[in-house]
Amino acid sequence: MKLRRCAVLYLESREALAIDWKSVLSGGNALAASTHWVALAPHLDLELDVGAAQVAALGAIGQTVWSERADAERGFGEDLIAQLLELGLLIGDTPQYAAQRERDDTLRNTHWRPLSALAHTFGRWRGVTGETGMEAPSFQALLERYGEPPPPTLDLAPEAAVKLPGAASGRLDEQLLQRYTGRNFDLQASVPLDVAARLLQRTFGAQEVRKVGPHSSVLKKTSPSGGGLHPIEAYVLVQRVDGVAPGLYHYHPIAHELRPLRALDAEAAGALARYMLADQHWLASAPLQVVMVARMERSFWKYRNHQKAYRALALDAGHLSQTFYLLAAEAGLPAFITAAINDADIEQTLGLDHLRHAVVAMCGCGPAGKGERTMVELRYGETEAI
Ligand SMILES: Cc1cc2nc3c(=O)[nH]c(=O)nc-3n(C[C@H](O)[C@H](O)[C@H](O)COP(=O)(O)O)c2cc1C
Repeated sequence: MKLRRCAVLYLESREALAIDWKSVLSGGNALAASTHWVALAPHLDLELDVGAAQVAALGAIGQTVWSERADAERGFGEDLIAQLLELGLLIGDTPQYAAQRERDDTLRNTHWRPLSALAHTFGRWRGVTGETGMEAPSFQALLERYGEPPPPTLDLAPEAAVKLPGAASGRLDEQLLQRYTGRNFDLQASVPLDVAARLLQRTFGAQEVRKVGPHSSVLKKTSPSGGGLHPIEAYVLVQRVDGVAPGLYHYHPIAHELRPLRALDAEAAGALARYMLADQHWLASAPLQVVMVARMERSFWKYRNHQKAYRALALDAGHLSQTFYLLAAEAGLPAFITAAINDADIEQTLGLDHLRHAVVAMCGCGPAGKGERTMVELRYGETEAI
């Protein structure tokens, strides 16, 4: 049998702090620190405690060339090699280890930059709720806790400043100046079908399909996209859109269709929204929501093992979100965007593999509730309106 190390592996020396009561009682240092190794392998999606002997073996066995298991056993012992194969940190070429190998192959074949795979895998959330910190403190509370924040902008070379004329008014002004983040959606109101259709088509839809090869094409959208690849897909959660049953859909950007993935009653759709949004109840009631999911396969087909590719996916989602906000503003609707989502749970709901798809952010919109556009609407509510 042959083996090799998994494709991407980082080892973290993690510190654990504890109160050293013995030392405290004798007037010494109150904190005792100990360290241990944690293996972070994106294909496993698990943090694994490992010992120094395992670290030595993992450091000595290469990730590209297959080598004989017997040789590794001679160097590090049969039990230790068996443990590492079982954990999936070493990959074996026999059917017994096929499951671990399949995950490792998926990572290899997707052309991830290793550090990006690490940041993506271990930055995801599962089951985060309000109790675990999403209910952000007010600006006032932050001031008390952290003191003054850095100034709102840099103030460079004021003595050489070139005075500019005031911004002339323009055709985009109405949407740009009306745009705001809503956190008080009308629980009864729905989004008219034509408004939802325009929002989806002009944000996520193809304005043009360009053939670039015998079997390949690229889409032209209203937002720019790194490499012109448009790897972001729109999964739509409908709560209240006229003429569309509540549920989860995939928006097809060329066919301009909502393709049903899961029917939900209105209550279940609301509960799912709240869960996906990590318990942000002030956003969960928005009647139309979109989960933006990046297809790494599409992006990394061009940007193989690329340092900037993962960042570009987040930028793509940001552009789409602003377009969505402006179209919502045009329809007189507040909108939202958030990256504080239970992305690992969303993957499960949508049947996605985190090595091939990144759930980047959620946005949504809907008619404002009563008393809208007050400062209550702002997350950092106690500030003066400007
Ligand atoms: C990347 C990003 C993440 C955000 N995350 C959240 C969020 O988790 N919850 C929320 O209520 N608002 C979120 N917002 C909205 C901002 O808080 C909002 O844009 C900001 O307060 C300014 O308000 P405005 O959009 O009305 O100008 C997010 C905005 C961006 C761009």
